[in-house]
Amino acid sequence: MSDNFFKWDQERLTTHVDAMDNEHKKLIDIMNRLYDRYEAKATKPELQSIVRELASWTITHFEHEEKFFDTLDYSQASVHKKIHKDLIERLKSHAAEFDKTGVLTPAFFQFLKTWLTAHIMGIDTKYGVIAAQKSA
Ligand SMILES: [Fe+2]
Ligand SMILES: [Fe+2]
Repeated sequence: MSDNFFKWDQERLTTHVDAMDNEHKKLIDIMNRLYDRYEAKATKPELQSIVRELASWTITHFEHEEKFFDTLDYSQASVHKKIHKDLIERLKSHAAEFDKTGVLTPAFFQFLKTWLTAHIMGIDTKYGVIAAQKSA
């Protein structure tokens, strides 16, 4: 599998919750595929279908994550859900922009990269800490 766009980094990105790490890896796979096909100058319909897959998997992943952290005594749950909502809105607006222009912009890829690093490292790892305390 390609990691031209973003490489999984166990040490920095792990939440210590295997199911969620696997879902994050799947997200990263889709983004890498999108980037590779963009670099290969794939057609708009092909790129659109990958963007749709990314949006739909993101929504699914956020649902799983929210269900999971609702089982924990996680004080940041509502803030985290709000952040998810905002990310989905921003992803959708980038997708709509692409539908209109047919151009995937550097800003779109920058958004994906920031999301991966800032959200997974800065936010998702927090429920990981709580989950680890619970199972200890
Ligand atoms: Fe999250
Ligand atoms: Fe996540």
